[in-house]
Amino acid sequence: MKKIAVLGGSNSKSSINKKLAVYASSFLEGIEIDILDLNDYSLPIYHFDHEEENGIPQIAKDLSAKLKTYDGFIVSLAEHNGTYTVFFKNIIDWLSRTDYNIWNKKPMLLLSTSPGERGAANVMKLGQTFFPRVGAEISGSFSFPSFHDHFKDGKIIHEDLLKALEKEIRNFENSL
Ligand SMILES: Cc1cc2nc3c(=O)[nH]c(=O)nc-3n(C[C@H](O)[C@H](O)[C@H](O)COP(=O)(O)O)c2cc1C
Repeated sequence: MKKIAVLGGSNSKSSINKKLAVYASSFLEGIEIDILDLNDYSLPIYHFDHEEENGIPQIAKDLSAKLKTYDGFIVSLAEHNGTYTVFFKNIIDWLSRTDYNIWNKKPMLLLSTSPGERGAANVMKLGQTFFPRVGAEISGSFSFPSFHDHFKDGKIIHEDLLKALEKEIRNFENSL
């Protein structure tokens, strides 16, 4: 059975991005879903001198090795001031020092959301540009706008947005 990892680019315990990624994964059938909590991978802020003196933290190596075990990824990016959260970018920085091929040339459904009507479109653009360079085969992407207006009781209540997401989920499923 294929196995995918599902994660939000946020350290918030109530992350709306994690909720969206998990929700998207619920449409997949016959695929093992592993929901990652990146808070389990507590890393120091990347610092060149730290790496020189101490090497790459074992936690980064463990996460890098874990990512190699998946057939695909659903990642939803949180946006802080037009870019990745510092927490997520830091993990990406450490992973890139461990193995630049972070996503192991596997399919990725790339999502983003925010309370705003652009749905974190800035960070989405960054992910679309950068993630393929670090091994993501992006099968589709979707910025979900105004999360709190359109996502209620654990599901998307806006018909057209749901249809758009479902289309991307099918593309992702077919690329696995
Ligand atoms: C420091 C900070 C900066 C933010 N900047 C943006 C932004 O640039 N664009 C945006 O759409 N939302 C922004 N937000 C709102 C976030 O989208 C919102 O907090 C969202 O819940 C973050 O996703 P998460 O719940 O998955 O962590 C910002 C929030 C914080 C705390």
